[in-house]
Amino acid sequence: MNSGASEDGGRKEYFGESNAPVTTVAPGANIQSSFRRVALSITSVLPNGDVLHAGVLNAIDARLIEQVKKKQVRIAVIGMGHVGLPTALGFASMGWTVLGVDSSESLVSMIQAGKVPFYEPGLDDLLKRQLGKNFLPVSDMDQAIREATILFLCVGTPQKENGQADLSQVEAAARSIAHNLNGYKLIVEKSTVPAITAQWICRTIRRFATNGRAKLDFDVASNPEFLQEGVALKNISRPERIVCGVESERARRIVEEMYRPVPARLLITGTSTAEIIKHAANSFLSMKISFINMVADLCDAIGADVSQVAEGIGADPRIGHGFLQAGIGFGGYCFPKDLRAFIYLAEEYGIDFSLLKQVEAINEKRTEMFIKKLRNALWVLHDKTIAVLGLAFKAGTDDTRESPGLRIVDALRKEGATLRLHDPKAIPLLKKVLVEEEGKLTYCDSPYAAAANAQALLVLTDWAEYRLLDWARLHELMELPLIVDGRNLLDPDTIREAGFEYISIGRPAR
Ligand code: UDX
Repeated sequence: MNSGASEDGGRKEYFGESNAPVTTVAPGANIQSSFRRVALSITSVLPNGDVLHAGVLNAIDARLIEQVKKKQVRIAVIGMGHVGLPTALGFASMGWTVLGVDSSESLVSMIQAGKVPFYEPGLDDLLKRQLGKNFLPVSDMDQAIREATILFLCVGTPQKENGQADLSQVEAAARSIAHNLNGYKLIVEKSTVPAITAQWICRTIRRFATNGRAKLDFDVASNPEFLQEGVALKNISRPERIVCGVESERARRIVEEMYRPVPARLLITGTSTAEIIKHAANSFLSMKISFINMVADLCDAIGADVSQVAEGIGADPRIGHGFLQAGIGFGGYCFPKDLRAFIYLAEEYGIDFSLLKQVEAINEKRTEMFIKKLRNALWVLHDKTIAVLGLAFKAGTDDTRESPGLRIVDALRKEGATLRLHDPKAIPLLKKVLVEEEGKLTYCDSPYAAAANAQALLVLTDWAEYRLLDWARLHELMELPLIVDGRNLLDPDTIREAGFEYISIGRPAR
């Protein structure tokens, strides 16, 4: 594996300290293999088998590491979304001076006014504590890049039609960095990106650098984020592990110092390996969910209980209990797009991730499965009044992107049902994209208002507060006491004892 290192005489030569030319690729050449070749040639072997260039830091770098240890350098976080803002405030609360920047001026002014642009438990308090102290939201990207030494890229990587990750915001940020290289920069990619993106960022900065080659002193690292919406601050302060891909000793030392206070294992790899870890992690978790949903369908057919199956298999530490909650499928900004991007990336290398294609196909069929259950109970859905509890893609967030619940709302609208919707957090944002329709779609400010004269009540998001509802009162309000639970959130006995017909996912209808 490390034979490449000797070929090119080691890192010093390539990365900016010796003005070595950027690798030129002949027209039509397979760019992927030339990148791979370059990467191999400048690294050496790490304990985990990954390769990394080891070397003694020169005096300048050693001084830089000292400054990092004392938090005397600034961090800039580019992108103030669900990853960027918690990341910025996490580092600010560790004592770093953090500049938060976003291309959306309105978003920055909202944050400057102390408002968090989305619901995330605890984030607004942390913003109030750090705003103007260690956390400085700014809208001038160039200024932020120039003032900081460590630059976290937390910009959006939405997906393209074909499932490929859209990296235009990453590329734009790389060009801004290239135009503002006023000394050493460590660029840390935190957005979820396909493998070799770090190498593209490196190449783009070299190509667009305007400050003359002398200032081409930077490293690119990959530090994927594993935070879950709804528990972001807990995940940031107490992560299961920290993964960091680096291609230089200097970058490795800087990330080690940055994360030293965080009580978690720091796994150092090469950048492509780190990028793959993130996609693989999200794809694996999605696979667990599609697996248990497949088993749930079998349990429904046979009359077995999927929650007990999950208990039985999850007790084996090789499987684990996590992410075995059957239901209407996974959603959110991450799982669906990361799965597609991983499948697309593999295809670029001629590898058919058929397994993951099945994970996606199973997930897409959850809506149909749920509608079929409801139709079996109500026969015709047209003009039926249906109460919907939960619109967010999961509890703990107001995020409805790729929400499985919204997929079902969509299908019911197509069936001509009358919908009365409730969600504890998601309605204010959702109202902007899904407008009310007189007599056909109504937002309700309580589950009870939603249940009025309804012929069915659906549970589509696992908000804990829905377990504590007054079932007798709901029974009074509804025309037909029918509950269809798409999240297996409720206790079947409690609901049945309250006089409801109760249908859930993969659990026997006693
Ligand atoms: C996910 C990853 O968990 C996180 O590590 C990564 O950084 C970002 O993507 P998030 O999108 O916040 O986080 O949602 P998550 O809690 O993982 O849930 C994803 C979806 O799976 C939700 O729709 C959830 O309802 C569903 N889910 C989760 C199940 O259907 N069953 C389960 O057992 C767990």
